[in-house]
This record gives sequence, structure tokens and C-alpha cells, in this order.
Amino acid sequence: MGVTTTEWIGVILGCLPLLGFVLWWWNELWYVVLRGRDSNKRLPPGHMGLPFIGDTITFLWYFKFLRRPDDYINAQRRKYGEGEGLLRTHLFGAPSIIACEPLVTKFVLQSDDKFILEWPSRELMGLTSMVVVHGKEHARLRSFVTDAINCPNALRRIALVVQPRVVAALHSWAHQGRINAYLETRKVTFENIGELFGSFEPGDLLDTMDELYDGLVKGMRAYPLNFPGTAYHRGYKCRKKLEEIYGKELQKRKKMKVVKTVDLMDGLMQIKDDEGNSLSDTEVIDNIVSLVVGGYVSTSLVSMWAIYLLAKFPNVLHKLREENMAFRKAKTSDFIKAEEVSKLKYTNMVVEETIRMGNVALLSFRKIIREVEYKGYKLPKGWNVILWLRYLHTDPKNFEDPLCFNPDRWNEPPKPGTYQVFGGGKRICAGNMLARLQLGILLHHLSTGYKWELVNPEAGMIYLPHQKPEDGAEVFFSKL
Ligand code: HEM
Repeated sequence: MGVTTTEWIGVILGCLPLLGFVLWWWNELWYVVLRGRDSNKRLPPGHMGLPFIGDTITFLWYFKFLRRPDDYINAQRRKYGEGEGLLRTHLFGAPSIIACEPLVTKFVLQSDDKFILEWPSRELMGLTSMVVVHGKEHARLRSFVTDAINCPNALRRIALVVQPRVVAALHSWAHQGRINAYLETRKVTFENIGELFGSFEPGDLLDTMDELYDGLVKGMRAYPLNFPGTAYHRGYKCRKKLEEIYGKELQKRKKMKVVKTVDLMDGLMQIKDDEGNSLSDTEVIDNIVSLVVGGYVSTSLVSMWAIYLLAKFPNVLHKLREENMAFRKAKTSDFIKAEEVSKLKYTNMVVEETIRMGNVALLSFRKIIREVEYKGYKLPKGWNVILWLRYLHTDPKNFEDPLCFNPDRWNEPPKPGTYQVFGGGKRICAGNMLARLQLGILLHHLSTGYKWELVNPEAGMIYLPHQKPEDGAEVFFSKL
């Protein structure tokens, strides 16, 4: 006797719970029971999720649907335990250990003999860029770059180069009356980067470069499959075009013989290490491209956050204005110097608090290169560590009332390891002082010349790929 359709449907429906059960435990079986059994140390608490996609659905559920990003970690900790700040999971295509407490984050960032930074999109970053290379080569490139953009001498010069554009942009925003802070801060940041890094003036070429960077960054976030039609492939093509543009500029400069050191490209071309060696052309270009990637979106986002948060917290703007107005009265020049910015105490506290709340860098990654034991837990070789930086800054154990914009909290230093906005260890952000300076300059000119209010104060937040208000922080903007 044949089986009827109804019976087939019954069998399939009956098997579904079993299938669900198998899928739910498959990764656990594979990563924890089968591959984890060669050691008697236990893995951190957690769950490895479904085959291939791991815990992606839950991650997206909290970040995109519920829009309560911190509850992604809170929920797991409630369910599986605190685990000394460690959780195991499968995210972004790899078995991973999440680190979400200050001590363990610091441990990972400072143990580069156990954990290394490994980008999946190395060729998009540039194989000789400082973010890709390791060891001595990394240290050498880092010192070149720090000299060019992040040390006091460089910052002094940069403060003067970026200010005219910031001042002109604010003037034009007041003229427009209503602006989208996200788009406008992107524009002024990219124009300044163009000037600082390669003396490119605003115009068609810079607009093209902006589009190419956009394609490149999207490629970096995509799965690294390099064939036509993929975001990665498009990113690769954008990178090649950027290399061509910078390559032409570099050759032009080499022919010009006159040494001037006005921008990062000149700086990188001229600097020599202790043995008298300069950077190769490829190294100059790879490092300029990766510095733009590191500095562009991050600087524009924190600038947008400053505008947004000061509109939401007028008491903070009031104090900021008092300090900057008092400073301004004693001055004749329209521009503020780098060393003057660093003396504005409250302004610098607003800078730190903005960067803490902006949480521009949600996560950072490391690859475990040999099995590590941390407080009785095994961190297996070959897995990723996901440093959940955001959680450090929004955990009430680390910062009292963490979602309140309260620059006064910076009257005291933060508890050790709780403030890791720029990462740490040898890979700490290479543009951290530059980012702070640019934000300080913006705060000075904003607070002394302008007033603004949010068009949609109740606009919701989005959290991927970056945290920002849904409307990009639209504001009514005018002169004081
Ligand atoms: C508020 C703005 C910024 C934030 C929050 C930020 C955050 C970070 C973080 C979290 C890292 C990773 C550190 C790690 O994995 O240990 C990093 C690395 C890096 N950042 Fe930034 N960044 C900012 C601005 C900038 C700027 C303005 C530049 C340059 C123009 C820059 C260039 C870099 C570079 C080159 C690296 C790689 C360093 C290395 O591998 O040695 N960043 N940044």
C-alpha cells in the first residue's frame, strides 16, 4: 500500500522538531564536543548557534529588529553566566570568543604573542599597509605614520590646515538653515582628508575618490569572494582605481624635486627610518588608503555625535560655550591652535564623552594563534576573539548612568581598562590624537558661533553598520 500525501506531510511535520534539535546542537557537537575534547579545560559559557550562520540571527535580532544592542550580550550573560567576561559563540563566519569585560579585553589587546589582528580583506586594506603587517614591519610603519599625523608637531600643522574648511562649512550650514549633520560632517571631513593626505582640492576628482572609498569600505565589510557581481569584487576595483590616482600624484611629486612636506603623502615620501631607508611607493599608497579608511567615517561620525548630543543636552552646551567664549575674548585670531585646544579642560571632557557615547568602533577582532588559558577557560587556537568594545562603554558597572551624556564624569579618570574606544596595545588607533584634535576644533567653533536644534528629537537609532540617528541627525542651524 502506497503512502498518501497526508501521511508524508505528517512525517515531515513530525520530523521538524527533530531537525530543529539537530541543527541547534550541530555546532555545539562539532566545536565543543568533538573538536574541544582534546583538553580538560573548559570553554567559556555560551552557545555556538546554527550550522554555518552561527548566532547571526540573534545578533541581527537585537541590533536591527529590537534595536537594543547591549541586550545581545546581557541576554547571553543572563542565560549562560558571566564567565569572567567571556562568552563563546559563532559569529561573522567563525567560532569566536566574545570578550566584554575590561580586564580580559586589556589582556587580549596586550598579548600580541597570543592574539593577532588578521583582516579577512587584507588585499583591500593593502598588503603593505600598517593595519595588515605585523611585528617589526608594523612598528616601522607605525612610527612613520605617527610622525606624520599623530605627534604634537604634526598636530600643530594639521590644526591650521583643517580649520578654514571647518569654519567655512559651519558658515554654509547656517546659510542653509537646515542640514543633515551626518552628510555634512562627512563632506567636510573628506575635504579635509583630501587636503591633509594628498593636497586634493574639492572638485570632481575628490568626489570620485569619495565614491571609490565608499565602494572599498563596502567591499571590506562583505564576504571576501572576489568574482564579478560581489561587493568584495567592486571594492577591489575601487581600490585599484584609488591606487592609480595616488600613483599618478606620487610620480608627479617625484619629478618635481622640490621638497615641501605639506601633506601626508609628502611626509611619508620623505621620512627615513634609523637605517636611512624610506618607504616604497606601494607602502606610501597602501598606508594613505588605510589611513583614509580609518579616519574618514570615524571622524565624521563623532562630529555628528557631538552635534546630536549637544542638542540633546543643552546644559553641556552651555558649559562648553562658557569655556570657549571666555577663551575667545582673550584672543585676536579666528583660529585656535592645537596647544590651545589641549588646554580647554571642559572641551576635552566633552571630546572624550562624545567618543565614548558615539561608540564608532563597536568591535575589534583578534585571531588566537596558540591555545590560551584565561582564568580556567580555554581559548582555542584558530578561533577569533571579538573584543566587544561598545559593551565596555555602556556597562553601568564601568560608567555610572552610561547613556547619560555627562562630560563631568571625566573629572575622574575612568576605571582601568573600561575606556577602550581606540583599542589598545601595539595596535591602538594610529589617529587617536588627530581625532581628538579635530573634534576639539569643531566644538570650539560650533559653541562660539552657532546654535542648533534637532528637527526630529525623537528619531530612532540604527546600530549597523554604525550607531546613528535614523535621520542622520537633521538640525535647524543658525548663527548665535
Ligand atoms: C573617533 C575616531 C576614531 C575611533 C573611535 C577609532 C578607533 C579605532 C580602533 C578601535 C582601532 C582598532 C585598535 C585595535 O584593534 O586594537 C583603530 C585602529 C586604527 N585607526 Fe582609528 N579611530 C578613530 C580615528 C582614526 C583616525 C582619525 C585615523 C587616521 C587618520 C585612524 C587610523 C587608524 C589606524 C591606521 C588604525 C590601525 C592601527 C594599527 O593597526 O596599528 N583612526 N582605530
